[in-house]
Amino acid sequence: MNLKNAVALVTGGSAGIGRAIARTLIASGARVAITGRNLEKLKEAAQALGAFAVQADVSKEADVERTYREVLAQFGDLDILVNNAGIGVFKPLVDMEPAHVESVFATNVFGAVMMGRAAAKHFIQRNRGNIINIASTAGVRGAPNGTAYYGSKFALRGITECWRAELRKHNIRVMLVNPSEVITDFAATAGIPQKANESKLRGEEIAHAVKAILEMDDRGFTIETTVFATNPID
Ligand SMILES: NC(=O)c1ccc[n+]([C@@H]2O[C@H](COP(=O)([O-])OP(=O)(O)OC[C@H]3O[C@@H](n4cnc5c(N)ncnc54)[C@H](OP(=O)(O)O)[C@@H]3O)[C@@H](O)[C@H]2O)c1
Repeated sequence: MNLKNAVALVTGGSAGIGRAIARTLIASGARVAITGRNLEKLKEAAQALGAFAVQADVSKEADVERTYREVLAQFGDLDILVNNAGIGVFKPLVDMEPAHVESVFATNVFGAVMMGRAAAKHFIQRNRGNIINIASTAGVRGAPNGTAYYGSKFALRGITECWRAELRKHNIRVMLVNPSEVITDFAATAGIPQKANESKLRGEEIAHAVKAILEMDDRGFTIETTVFATNPID
């Protein structure tokens, strides 16, 4: 597709990987809406990027519906949904409270499903569209303390396959992107240590992958893209 004047909606576009994706799509000529819960962070990002801001929590159905109303009122159309908003809780199974699992699944799985459902309704009507789900290498193999987060990303990966099977006949391209470790605020927010250095991935590498897979001619698409740092030093 040609990104010039395309309309993209990036959930969690106020920080980290989502913000880098929004910046890259805008630099390619797209018109971009970003979402996030924290209004101050969202406003700052929208102003810096030249994006349209919608304060919304993907885990709340009313917020999801309002997001589409506001984006369609602003741009009149939608071409791309990037389901990027995500959070993590990392604890041994024996310390994992149901509320931890619920909160991670509410954003990473139910939020992505509600955002994807509304996008699919719009895309089916116009017989084309693009959905990119940002999962993780946590969605392809398990690890200690990963019940909530890794489980949510495995779920998102499976859901992506179902959407792909359902939506291809409507010319909707459903694509999965799996970043490995990226230097963002994600780890600090989740309360886990992260050693940042120049050898590790930035949001820009993930944004590059997103732009590249979108720009393929609409007759084709890559189903899954996994991004590794070349030689990450911990
Ligand atoms: N960083 C990594 O190493 C890494 C690796 C693989 C995959 N990922 C995935 O990449 C995605 C982005 O992560 P990141 O590293 O960029 O994290 P981040 O820096 O913490 O940014 C997360 C973004 O999502 C928003 N957000 C969180 N919960 C939300 C909700 N319920 N509704 C709407 N927005 C919400 C945040 O804003 P508010 O808090 O203001 O809502 C923020 O804009 C996530 O899905 C994550 O699982 C990250």
